[in-house]
Amino acid sequence: MTILLTGGAGYIGSHTVIELQQAGHEVVVVDNLCNASEKSLERVQEITGKPVPFYPVDIRDRIGLEQVMEQYDFDCCIHFAGLKAVGESVAKPLEYYDNNISGTLVLLDVMRKHGCKNIIFSSSATVYGNPAVIPITEECPKGQCTNPYGQTKSMLEQIMTDMQKADPEWNVVLLRYFNPIGAHPSGKIGEDPNGIPNNLMPYITQVAVGKRAELGVFGDDYNTPDGTGVRDYIHVVDLANGHVKALSAIERNCGLAIYNLGTGQGYSVLDVVHAFEQANHLTIPYSIKPRRAGDIDACYSDPAKAERELGWKAQYGLLDMCRDSWNWQKNNPNGYQD
Ligand code: NAD
Ligand code: UD1
Repeated sequence: MTILLTGGAGYIGSHTVIELQQAGHEVVVVDNLCNASEKSLERVQEITGKPVPFYPVDIRDRIGLEQVMEQYDFDCCIHFAGLKAVGESVAKPLEYYDNNISGTLVLLDVMRKHGCKNIIFSSSATVYGNPAVIPITEECPKGQCTNPYGQTKSMLEQIMTDMQKADPEWNVVLLRYFNPIGAHPSGKIGEDPNGIPNNLMPYITQVAVGKRAELGVFGDDYNTPDGTGVRDYIHVVDLANGHVKALSAIERNCGLAIYNLGTGQGYSVLDVVHAFEQANHLTIPYSIKPRRAGDIDACYSDPAKAERELGWKAQYGLLDMCRDSWNWQKNNPNGYQD
């Protein structure tokens, strides 16, 4: 297939380019580089040996997008482009709604105009809010999102659901990611956050590399076995492969389909710290801090639907994720600036 990847220079997108190219697909990337470096795509090319056509276009730029659409006959779009920092979204709601919602509306309209009505969308487990039941199946009702970032995911799911209902020629696959961590085993590409990391694994790797003194563990009084928050961490290469497998749903004209992409296994913050220490023979200093606003006790998936319908199942375990996260960070202490 010929596939348009919006946001394909970013963390998950760049890993997905590799898996798609290795599965024999043609990939074209559009990214405005607001949270990525073009170097990620150069590294992808080193890994796969195949060029990655790249267009530095903002998805809100209709003319720019149309120019790309006119050059190719896309079978599908995998839509990663979006802003994703929870705290920043609380401070800058208009920027988040504009980028994520307006950008997606332009993208969908341009796709429709060019007769490409197949889309795979990067959604998030955040749409479940504080889940009614865990492990979380796709039947679990959506919950209240506590921040504008989460609202954009939930709203975009609704927008694409309504669109598909009105025009059944569309195939829409909503992939609800749990917590992606890890990096390509080559150590050439990985997560490269700006400034102080918000998420757990990049914070741990920056402590390990000496950029931060210690990890703050946000709360040890949650209703979990050791009191720290439990999440479903998934290796980014497994996640990337989930997108390759999701193309099979598009090929069988799935209409609207929703899949959790997680491992089904919950680990606490301290489990992750200890696994990181064990995998890499390092010590991670930490101290217990107050809870972070908006955090929940536990969130992990039931990934059975993706296995049943897509033939997809996560292959990597927590130690692999910790090893590969560290392999990327230690080889690139300053990310793509190295
Ligand atoms: P990322 O920031 O590394 O990648 C997003 C990419 O989109 C970046 O390269 C950025 O430059 C680009 N982009 C943003 N706005 C754009 C615009 N208007 N036009 C063109 N390009 C634009 O983030 P990621 O972790 O790779 O996430 C990819 C997608 O998956 C995002 O939609 C994110 O919300 C979603 N997601 C991520 C996680 C996670 O933990 N990383 C979890 C759930 C969902
Ligand atoms: C967060 C977002 C979620 C988003 C996801 C991926 C919130 C409330 N949720 O998920 O919407 O989809 O990132 O971008 O921000 N932790 C620490 N110390 C740290 C960092 C994290 O103890 O320095 C803990 C958290 O309290 C949590 C766990 O580690 O229990 C995982 O946190 P994180 O990596 O930020 O992911 P989520 O909060 O699950």
